[in-house]
Amino acid sequence: MAPPCGGILKAAMALSGAQTAGEMGPSSRGGSGSSAGKNPGARPVEKTFYIETFGCQMNAHDSEKVIGTLEHQGYRQVQSEMEANLILYNTCSIRDKAEQKVFHRLNDFKKYYAAGKRFAVLGCVAQQEGERIFERAPYVSIVSGSASYRKLPEMLRRLEAGERHITGLDDRQTEETFETEFTRRSNPHRGYITIIEGCDKFCAYCVVPYTRGKERSRTGSSVVGEARRMAASGYTEVQLLGQNVNSYRDPEGKLSFAELLGAIGELDGIRRVRFTTSHPRDFTRDIVEVIDRVETLCDHVHLPVQSGSSRMLQAMQREYTMESYLERIAWIKSARRPISITTDIIVGFPGETETDFGQTLDLLQRVQYDAVFAFKYSPRPNTPALAMPDSIDDEEKSRRLQRLLEKQREIQRTNYANHIGQVMEVAVEGFNTQRGQVIGRSSQNKTVNFSARQAIFPAPGSYLPVQITNSFPNSLVGEAVQ
Ligand code: SAH
Ligand code: SF4
Ligand code: F3S
Repeated sequence: MAPPCGGILKAAMALSGAQTAGEMGPSSRGGSGSSAGKNPGARPVEKTFYIETFGCQMNAHDSEKVIGTLEHQGYRQVQSEMEANLILYNTCSIRDKAEQKVFHRLNDFKKYYAAGKRFAVLGCVAQQEGERIFERAPYVSIVSGSASYRKLPEMLRRLEAGERHITGLDDRQTEETFETEFTRRSNPHRGYITIIEGCDKFCAYCVVPYTRGKERSRTGSSVVGEARRMAASGYTEVQLLGQNVNSYRDPEGKLSFAELLGAIGELDGIRRVRFTTSHPRDFTRDIVEVIDRVETLCDHVHLPVQSGSSRMLQAMQREYTMESYLERIAWIKSARRPISITTDIIVGFPGETETDFGQTLDLLQRVQYDAVFAFKYSPRPNTPALAMPDSIDDEEKSRRLQRLLEKQREIQRTNYANHIGQVMEVAVEGFNTQRGQVIGRSSQNKTVNFSARQAIFPAPGSYLPVQITNSFPNSLVGEAVQ
């Protein structure tokens, strides 16, 4: 299963046709818009960009919007820093290592500033560090958080006009969402739709409320409209996104989150609807009911718990108890459909005792999750947890993480083995030509590697019934059914 956050997501996209336009870099300073046409003697320099994306699916989708916006401004995407004259890093600051990676990356490429390359830092590190990025890396030209992306065209014009340091740091005041008709989705079959941005929950350990602004939803009608347009252009799977997707509140007051799920699931052409991430506090029973009722809604809920100890949940300011979390798990498990449940866990939060940690292990045993994304607690700037006593040393955090992952591996070994003999619908995603296998995904979001009897592989984006013949803790193996 793909992790809900972390890691580098390289946007590999088909390139649009080359366009020539203004030049960036030292030679363009002072030019207004630096249109190559204004100086007949100068060779037009193509505007090219490279973008690298870190972090969660919301960042991945923001990059698709940024790419579309850049293309609309006459830029062409290239596949390496070396080919680009504008390098953008869309950053994540959820844990400290992700942030360090960004500065390392910038450091590797700063030597090319003199040759005309320009750098933009976008996303959560940009919002968190703000103008301090210019102090640490003066060769960076643009620092912009996600709440300011709608101003990107203007920022690019200022960059082309030779401005050295441009910021877009709209904070929690903004009411606007980043909607753009230029979104350049990287996959022609399944695509993201952000339905709610920001976060108002302020968990004690988390940077997101400071980096993504306050919670703001798109109207239900615009979300359904976008899904309908996607279906009309060949998309069969949509994934609704939000830091807390189920905290969605339609500004027009027409659709609840469950109703929105149902409305999208019932659109012609849509075969699968996913949504992530659900916050336990706002998880209502009608979500389970709509999954039971609308076949296209996938059999999967990602419901991060963070800890199995109510004491820790309170210290983390999660706004639910173990009891209420388990009530929601019971709703999901009582559904008619086999809804897969996955979660996120933080080990080593300040003050976590062996007893608290033991309760988290008990919770894994009780829920039998299909996947757990577990993280060592990482102290983050501005967060209340920074000031909390009883920090746990890194070795102990690592030990707890290992124990937890080992336990979860055994649970998954059994869960995945339970599918042997079943026939399930699999969405084809790609191939492993060396092994002669097709790679796909089940409704429960499990990876299925299978062989097809035909000489030709089925096309990505198609759906096939597959009989499961073998299993591993993280994937299933099968054969396409004739
Ligand atoms: N909004 C979602 C989670 C978004 S962040 C929710 O509240 O459930 C994704 C995951 O990163 C979190 O679920 C948490 O497990 C992890 N995370 C966030 N801040 C962290 C920190 N400071 N240290 C370690 N893990 C963290
Ligand atoms: Fe972070 Fe908590 Fe908001 Fe999730 S709900 S993004 S963990 S503050
Ligand atoms: Fe990272 Fe920001 Fe997402 S901190 S996880 S990119 S919201």
